[in-house]
Amino acid sequence: MKLLFLACLNPKTGNHTTAERIRSYIESAGHTCELRDAREFQSPADVVNLVSEHPKFEAALAIHLFKAGRLLMDIEIPFGVIFGGTDINEDVKVEQKRVVMEQVLLKARFAVAFTDKLKEEAELFLVSQSSKIYVQPQGIQTDVTEKFCWTEFLRSSEWHCENLLNVLVIIGPKIDPVLSAEVETVVKRTAGVFLAQERCQQELHAAMKRCFAVVNSSVSEGMSAAILEAIDLGVPVLARNIPGNAAVVQHEVTGLLYSSPQEFVHQSQRLLSDHELRERVVRNGKLYVEERHGVKQERETYQRLVDTLH
Ligand SMILES: *[C@@H]1O[C@H](CO)[C@@H](O)[C@H](O)[C@H]1NC(C)=O
Repeated sequence: MKLLFLACLNPKTGNHTTAERIRSYIESAGHTCELRDAREFQSPADVVNLVSEHPKFEAALAIHLFKAGRLLMDIEIPFGVIFGGTDINEDVKVEQKRVVMEQVLLKARFAVAFTDKLKEEAELFLVSQSSKIYVQPQGIQTDVTEKFCWTEFLRSSEWHCENLLNVLVIIGPKIDPVLSAEVETVVKRTAGVFLAQERCQQELHAAMKRCFAVVNSSVSEGMSAAILEAIDLGVPVLARNIPGNAAVVQHEVTGLLYSSPQEFVHQSQRLLSDHELRERVVRNGKLYVEERHGVKQERETYQRLVDTLH
């Protein structure tokens, strides 16, 4: 079967990694799967044109009901969708977007939610399509082959050698130019906080593994693969207590949650001084990721679902 797969493909982002992983499952089942960036298309009509090219596409898949799924609304071939974290945590709050997502869900053959909670919320906010929505947590695979030296990281640690544990490195691609400029300004005035460019996943994992903890201070909702990867690497996670993070981090069990800057410092200090706590969250986290986020199960789910698109 020839499949079209639409997702937002900013390089070196969690979305891109998830999309590539799912594509590899589909191809390993013997299908052809063409992964395309949703931003290449202006309207559903563009996608109609694409799928009728020869040889014709026979089915489609999209990550994000709003950002990508809506582009599939006019095609005649069957499709499935995967909820993006922001669909249910953010986009659903805008009525016009919510209505579009509802239409996408009605037309899709199946939908995948990463957590039970996302599925429950989808049923609450969108038209109820319970039997269509499958829960499949993201599969997590970490790899720490280190190929490059970390000069900038080492240098920043040298600068702060007396207070090494207080260094915060912010790492990732600049996607929103306004936000990036703001971050740069703040970082320049803040001792001990550094910005680093995005890396390929292997290098990022190597960097994470050298950290005392991985912090997620996001105020905007989504679903963090980075948190799960850190947990899998045996690095404790400190995450802001928002529903997206609380869905993967259970306070004092698989990581620590905080709600204010004061609490952030407090929880970090506990993690530093309480070795038993640190070991416990690392151990529990590892088990949780193995049990709930295995790639074998994820592969089987997607291969089975894609077969329903015939
Ligand atoms: C941080 O958490 C938010 C919410 O769960 C998520 O959308 C984002 O991708 C996360 N970022 C990182 C780097 O973990």
